[in-house]
Amino acid sequence: MTDIHPTTPGEGGAPRLEARGAHLAYERRTVSESIDASVRDGSFTVIVGPNACGKSTLLRAFARLLTPRSGSVLLDGRDLARVPAKEAARTVGLLPQSSQAPEGITVGELVSRGRYPHQGLFRQWSEADRDAVATALAETDLTDLVDVPVDELSGGQRQRVWVATALAQQTSVLLLDEPTTFLDIAHQYDLLDLFARLHARGTTVVAVLHDLAQAARYATDLIVMRDGEVVVTGSPAEVLTAELVERVFDLPCVVVPDPVTGTPLVVPRRRGLV
Ligand SMILES: Nc1ncnc2c1ncn2[C@@H]1O[C@H](COP(=O)(O)OP(=O)(O)OP(=O)(O)O)[C@@H](O)[C@H]1O
Ligand SMILES: [Mg+2]
Repeated sequence: MTDIHPTTPGEGGAPRLEARGAHLAYERRTVSESIDASVRDGSFTVIVGPNACGKSTLLRAFARLLTPRSGSVLLDGRDLARVPAKEAARTVGLLPQSSQAPEGITVGELVSRGRYPHQGLFRQWSEADRDAVATALAETDLTDLVDVPVDELSGGQRQRVWVATALAQQTSVLLLDEPTTFLDIAHQYDLLDLFARLHARGTTVVAVLHDLAQAARYATDLIVMRDGEVVVTGSPAEVLTAELVERVFDLPCVVVPDPVTGTPLVVPRRRGLV
């Protein structure tokens, strides 16, 4: 049985991450002209929105991998661009949407790389590093695969290795870009439950999800994006209406209470043959 944690919309909580009028762009493409978005301390924030609307780009800005051309991104009130990379990496961990493992690397070696931000120039591998890696492997059910080359894993197993690598970093803010991709439905909920446990222990979790039922079950705060902008933020119960889903995704739907959790469940209307 999966253990669902119905979340309550949180109140208060100072912003841990904030985009303020941030212009986010790649060399030849502007994604967001001026985006405002905020992640409250202790929240489980889920970002939803259509493909190519700028969700991953916002996460990259939050992870200090993309510097805004104008405006700013703040971590705990400090301009993130001025926070040294390694220090930022000790606070904010990112599971990217897709990653390529170095050829031949084993599961254990890759997950150990999550500890890099904690290592000084001359510091040796410590007991704390060993513990963090062992815990991350156990939590993602990978302990038995520790010596297996990542190239030899299935897509879903590989995705869990990347999650373990992010967990091993032991950051107080965890950014997850479509963490459940490639996973079967049970493993999806296993992972979401794991994030809910981390959230319950105080980690601020930010996840991009496409499954709105999952978003509604797990999020304390929802950020809904379209065309590089935040359309609305709030608790899933406040935000996830049929009108909103139709406006943002161009999908006619009805919203009913999830029979298990009571959270909003989006059910598409018939548009064609089915
Ligand atoms: N490295 C890049 N260089 C140039 N353009 C990019 C780059 N990465 C993304 N883009 C463009 O920026 C826009 C936003 O991309 P982004 O990856 O943020 O979307 P997304 O909301 O995460 O979409 P998806 O749901 O498909 O993952 C898209 O039009 C995309 O083509
Ligand atoms: Mg994306």
